[in-house]
Amino acid sequence: MRKRSFAFSVSFLVIFFFGFSSIKAQDYIVISWNDLGMHCCNQDFSTISILPPYNNIFAQVIQKGDALNPPHVVSQNISATYEIPGNTYSVGKTNFWDYEDKLFGVNLEPNMGLEGHGLSGNLDQQSDHFSAFGVPLTPYTDADLQHEDAFQLGLIRVYDTQSNLLAETQPVIPVSNEINCVSSGCHSSEQDILNEHEREGGFDPNDKPVFCSDCHEDNALNKPGHAGVPSFSEVIHKKHADKTNDCYKCHPGPNTQCLRGTMKTDHNFVCQDCHGSVREVGVSVENGRRPWLDEPSCGDANCHGNKYAEESGKLYKDSKGHGGLYCSACHGEQHAIAPSGNDRDNVQAIALQGHSGTLNDCKTCHGINPDGPGPHGLLASVLETMSPNPPSSYTLFQNYPNPFGELSGKGNQLSTTIRFNIQKPGRVHLDVFDLNGRKLATILNKKLNPGEYRVQYNGSFLAAGVYFYRLSINHFSQTRKMFVMR
Ligand code: HEC
Ligand code: HEC
Ligand code: HEC
Ligand code: HEC
Ligand code: HEC
Repeated sequence: MRKRSFAFSVSFLVIFFFGFSSIKAQDYIVISWNDLGMHCCNQDFSTISILPPYNNIFAQVIQKGDALNPPHVVSQNISATYEIPGNTYSVGKTNFWDYEDKLFGVNLEPNMGLEGHGLSGNLDQQSDHFSAFGVPLTPYTDADLQHEDAFQLGLIRVYDTQSNLLAETQPVIPVSNEINCVSSGCHSSEQDILNEHEREGGFDPNDKPVFCSDCHEDNALNKPGHAGVPSFSEVIHKKHADKTNDCYKCHPGPNTQCLRGTMKTDHNFVCQDCHGSVREVGVSVENGRRPWLDEPSCGDANCHGNKYAEESGKLYKDSKGHGGLYCSACHGEQHAIAPSGNDRDNVQAIALQGHSGTLNDCKTCHGINPDGPGPHGLLASVLETMSPNPPSSYTLFQNYPNPFGELSGKGNQLSTTIRFNIQKPGRVHLDVFDLNGRKLATILNKKLNPGEYRVQYNGSFLAAGVYFYRLSINHFSQTRKMFVMR
């Protein structure tokens, strides 16, 4: 404590004398996520290996903006570290290090992963982000070797060249051992699975451990497999299609519940809604789908459409949007799209902007509410509480002024104000639609307490015309018309 206040007074002096040119911790934020919403791996590698312990951590650092400067994604002249507090070793929590030689042809130091990363260390600096591949995390914390903790919080820290802490955050680093061939009650033992395997292509049930992707192509591990042998995804899904359509028989799982984001909790999606049945997952590969590389997409015409699409030809996890930020930076990972049903996934967003959900508060990065359009053309909205007393009903009032808009030739942007009353706490959605019911903008997507509110909306990207705006919260929904003049 004492040391810190000394540092504060020194930096105060520096700021005083050098006019705010020095680095201040509050000038930076770091956002971190995992490339997959879930990573599963085997615990026991003595008989079968499907996936090794191999987690991938990503982070982007943003130098915050202010009234004069936009924010910037930075990765030069800073460094970043990662750790998983309370989880410091993996040897013994899995026997991977007894078999990595036979399975992967490498000899690893204990607790070191396949890409040279351990359970803590430096993130690698990339052009616009930081990453650590192959972190060999297990779902067992040091304190509890019996029960899986599939959603542990990591700790990411960012430092300047003088080792001053600039920013930190706590992403979930998901991992589960719930690959249930035996525990699901389907197979009597892993050896039994091997005994049942066809004796083709040099398969020997006693030459253990067997690494399925040695022969079956697996893009997750970059393993080409043997020529002529169908890919792992194709055989595993087709083989089981007659037996089950329950993805959690193999994917983690009844306990883990890896699908936990808003698509499930707020919109009731199940795996099959996006991926098809077990049979379709397998048969689509036979028909040319590349496992792990051709996956569902937010931008699909039947889903959110072009305006909310991934970069063309790229996966969600590899795509970037507004300001050069990864989609996952603002939305969370696939299967954990914010706001998540698992509180730990929401820790980061709450720390950054005070509420869970998409990073949708422009001030988080900009420091201010910018005038121009932000992510997906969204404009900043300024929300004010007029009264915190619970009103007797939900109400959406007519906007004023109405019509509103830029008066041509004068260059002055006129925004409009929308008032509404909230009776019970809940997530408020205030959206703008065109006459065909197509959503054009989200003004608010925020949890609010009861009260009377007004929000200033700057619809500067709307062309002249008639629009609808709709308030929905809990079971209430009301729509009104507004006019834009140019
Ligand atoms: C040494 C090579 C090899 C290894 C290792 C291997 N397989 Fe296979 N597997 C094959 C071949 C060859 C086939 C037959 C492909 C065909 O039908 O053309 C096959 C077929 C299959 C099938 C389809 C069987 C059927 O009845 O349709 C499944 C399921 C399967 N393998 C699962 C696995 C699993 C799980 C593992 C890891 C435990 C594994 N394989 C490891 C070579 C291998
Ligand atoms: C019998 C076990 C089993 C069941 C049931 C199962 N999966 Fe899988 N799935 C696997 C395994 C094993 C892999 C890993 C394959 C690999 O490493 O390439 C996998 C990989 C995948 C992949 C990534 C590879 C690809 O094909 O793109 C998707 C997507 C997938 N499964 C979706 C599903 C969905 C959706 C369901 C339920 C409708 C389901 N799976 C049910 C065992 C299963
Ligand atoms: C709302 C749609 C949606 C639902 C529901 C969904 N997925 Fe996915 N899934 C995706 C998308 C999108 C991707 C591709 C992510 C990317 O492009 O980076 C994906 C990718 C995957 C992958 C490949 C690895 C990865 O994470 O990228 C697996 C395996 C998978 N899903 C399994 C499942 C299982 C099992 C379920 C149900 C428990 C499920 N998915 C539910 C949309 C969905
Ligand atoms: C800077 C943050 C940011 C980035 C980066 C970002 N988004 Fe968004 N996205 C938002 C905000 C804010 C919304 C408005 C809804 C909300 O507040 O939840 C939104 C909404 C969405 C929606 C829901 C639209 C609807 O129909 O309601 C989808 C889908 C989406 N984004 C996909 C993506 C994809 C794909 C990428 C990457 C190419 C991406 N976003 C990048 C902030 C971002
Ligand atoms: C998660 C961080 C983040 C959030 C949230 C965010 N932005 Fe940005 N924004 C950026 C970054 C980074 C840039 C890139 C600036 C550059 O490098 O030129 C940017 C650029 C912009 C620009 C162009 C540069 C400028 O400042 O004139 C506008 C306009 C903008 N954002 C508006 C918005 C609006 C409106 C919102 C809220 C609805 C928003 N942004 C939310 C990070 C963010």
